[in-house]
Amino acid sequence: ARAQIGVTGLAVMGSNIARNFARHGHTVALHNRSIAKTDALIEEHGSEGDFVRTETIEEFVAALQKPRRVLIMVKAGDPTDAVIEELASAMEPGDIIIDGGNALYTDTIRREASLRDRGLHFVGAGISGGEEGALNGPSIMPGGPKESYQALGPLLESIAAQVDGTPCCTHIGPDGSGHFVKMVHNGIEYADMQLIGEAYNLFRDALGYDADQVADVFTEWNSGDLESYLVEITAEVLKQKDAKTGKALVDVIVDAAEQKGTGRWTVKSALDLGVPVTGIAEAVFARALSGAREQRKAAVGLASGRLADKPADAAQFTEDIRQALYASKVVAYAQGFDQIAAGSAEYDWDLHPADLATIWRGGCIIRARFLNRIKDAYDENPKLPSLILAPYFRDAIETAIDSWRRVVSTATLLGIPVPAFASSLSYYDALRAERLPAALTQGQRDFFGAHTYERVDAEGKFHTLWSGDRSEVQA
Ligand code: 6PG
Repeated sequence: ARAQIGVTGLAVMGSNIARNFARHGHTVALHNRSIAKTDALIEEHGSEGDFVRTETIEEFVAALQKPRRVLIMVKAGDPTDAVIEELASAMEPGDIIIDGGNALYTDTIRREASLRDRGLHFVGAGISGGEEGALNGPSIMPGGPKESYQALGPLLESIAAQVDGTPCCTHIGPDGSGHFVKMVHNGIEYADMQLIGEAYNLFRDALGYDADQVADVFTEWNSGDLESYLVEITAEVLKQKDAKTGKALVDVIVDAAEQKGTGRWTVKSALDLGVPVTGIAEAVFARALSGAREQRKAAVGLASGRLADKPADAAQFTEDIRQALYASKVVAYAQGFDQIAAGSAEYDWDLHPADLATIWRGGCIIRARFLNRIKDAYDENPKLPSLILAPYFRDAIETAIDSWRRVVSTATLLGIPVPAFASSLSYYDALRAERLPAALTQGQRDFFGAHTYERVDAEGKFHTLWSGDRSEVQA
């Protein structure tokens, strides 16, 4: 046996990761349900490194040095369970199975427990960066037994993206934590994409810009605080021309956004954990609304009202949108990190936010210059009550706040939807409010259901005898 790592599931992501391992000098055993993919990889890229071609699972497992390390890159769900079972029956205690797909973290918790009972290590690893990242350096979020990281960490770190000499890979925590963190990463990705979409929409509908003009704005923004992969590719997408019509490609793409589910999972989990991830939720709902094509068709032509004219000062409005985007982005990350803290507490994972910010600086879809700031913020205070309260972000929002309000109010007056900008601003206003209307909610709940309330000036729970003499009793 001579391979240091095996990869099974050789679709694009699997092939690219296998090539990435080989390019870093590791001998890679290859396995795929149909041998044609394995042969194609070896034929096209065999010269990039040392690959071992195997046909059966037994052959595959036999090709691996101990402790055996196998990375599964198949479709999340039932296919993963089937491959795990096949592998587990052929492997020995101490061997490591890594699931590199976008698995639901509760599935990972279940799989880890069942393999642990059989003496095997199961590592649920979030891998971000798409096809390009898989080949040239992704961000990797492996969760699972700590001891498995000794045999696995160096291998994964060698193929991960590197930022300032630090690999974008670290042991996240036990069982499902790696996939949980990847899930929230994707939720933040949804929010970030939605915010960028709202900014684009404002340029188009409020300022009347064409795709090329908006592309130029994003290109410029990418050299400042907003520098990020998503801003960079936004300009690329907007610049692309359609060969068939000569129009901007974005103008011939159907405006109905799809999803494979990680954003929806993030929101479902946030609901269970009781964490307000309003930016991510608005992004998921915005995709759903865009996809309600029949309903939208029927609603075109509904009254709009238009209480404002197009912004007179385009340069000022552009700067306002930039500030609104930055501030809303801070809110989306703050909410995502809150969810990670809540997940960590719920499952006893002991997650470290600064580590996550560190490994998200490169390789992944949400990589951005400002992740360095997030890392600094958590390095300085790991117990930060909210990212928004870190001095750097507090100042950034203070600088942005007037612009943010102008963007939301102008959009509203013009009838342009900005669900994520608006809800992020409302979240911020609610968070900093001294009094919320929740006091009234509590009064109502006590009125109709004797659900009790707390008082600002006394300990304990109280109830007003609403249908009696309306005196107050201690509950
Ligand atoms: C990544 C991406 C990746 C994938 C998402 C897209 O980090 O590399 O998040 O995981 O592109 O699955 O998700 P949707 O299809 O739900 O938009």
